[in-house]
Amino acid sequence: MSALRTHDDTWDIATSVGSTAVMVAAARASETASADPLINDPYAKLLVAGAGTGIWEMLLDDTLVDKVEAIDAEVAAVYHHMRSYQAVRTHFFDAFFADAVAAGIRQVVILASGLDSRAYRLDWPTGTTVYEIDQPKVLAYKEQTLTANDVTPAAERRTVPIDLRQDWPAALTAAGFDPAAPTAWLAEGLLMYLPAEGQDRLFEQITELSASGSRIAAETAGNHRSDERRQQMAERFKKIAEMVGLTQSLDIQDLIYQDEDRASVRGWLDEHGWRAASQPSTAEMRRLNRWVDVSVTDDADAFSEFVTAVRS
Ligand SMILES: C[S@@+](CC[C@H](N)C(=O)[O-])C[C@H]1O[C@@H](n2cnc3c(N)ncnc32)[C@H](O)[C@@H]1O
Repeated sequence: MSALRTHDDTWDIATSVGSTAVMVAAARASETASADPLINDPYAKLLVAGAGTGIWEMLLDDTLVDKVEAIDAEVAAVYHHMRSYQAVRTHFFDAFFADAVAAGIRQVVILASGLDSRAYRLDWPTGTTVYEIDQPKVLAYKEQTLTANDVTPAAERRTVPIDLRQDWPAALTAAGFDPAAPTAWLAEGLLMYLPAEGQDRLFEQITELSASGSRIAAETAGNHRSDERRQQMAERFKKIAEMVGLTQSLDIQDLIYQDEDRASVRGWLDEHGWRAASQPSTAEMRRLNRWVDVSVTDDADAFSEFVTAVRS
């Protein structure tokens, strides 16, 4: 269950689930501007700048983080962790796409693409088509912002403005997707915003559209966190936001489906015609020297895994 969601809710870039796309883009902008960045997303800052004001400004302004540090060091650690986590996650999935195109795949689908600028910033071989699926207003905002700043895609980019709980396979096919060609799929920052049965349905649909040799990469939703712990953290974040003068209009945890019976992504894929591998995001953060200790944020099981799979 999620506190704020309905089965057919919609949003733009500044509201509800749309605003989570701004949050993660702000983390990428911050990492890109840092002294020793792990990733380079030159468009993230631009995309965040036009999306209004919000709690994500904390990630863009080191003086605000310093203020938070002085008030509540554990809350500040959560921000540091988030920035590092997003950098590591972006780095991991950038490498996934580099490997996929090196293996000859030329059809890419980014599910819930939000403010992901990979279609514009990655080094795609000639002949690559990148499909992006997200809610209509989210895709429109990104396209308008980048076009207004003369940023052009680095591949053939096709948008599929539709909710992933609707008949997106039909919309994707209508946009030119070829189910006979191997595809590289990405589900990053998405599964937690779908209920458990919606996640299963999504993977069934992807599997039906995936020719042999297709690949998929996904960030798992992470495990259920206790309501009591979430409530405590939400209150601390709200208090801090007020103290540093930012508006926290919503708590992201309230947008997430905290379904305890969610299928294991790796297990599901292995049982449905894919060969899957997974690793804890915590291990990848440590491997890249990006681990930030967040004692307030639960046990290791609460963190996501990065799953990759190849269709047999
Ligand atoms: C946390 S953002 C991640 C965006 C992008 N994948 C990234 O990592 O930068 C979540 C995105 O999922 C999209 N999303 C969530 N549920 C969706 C649904 N049912 N249909 C379409 N898009 C959805 C939101 O609009 C938002 O852009």
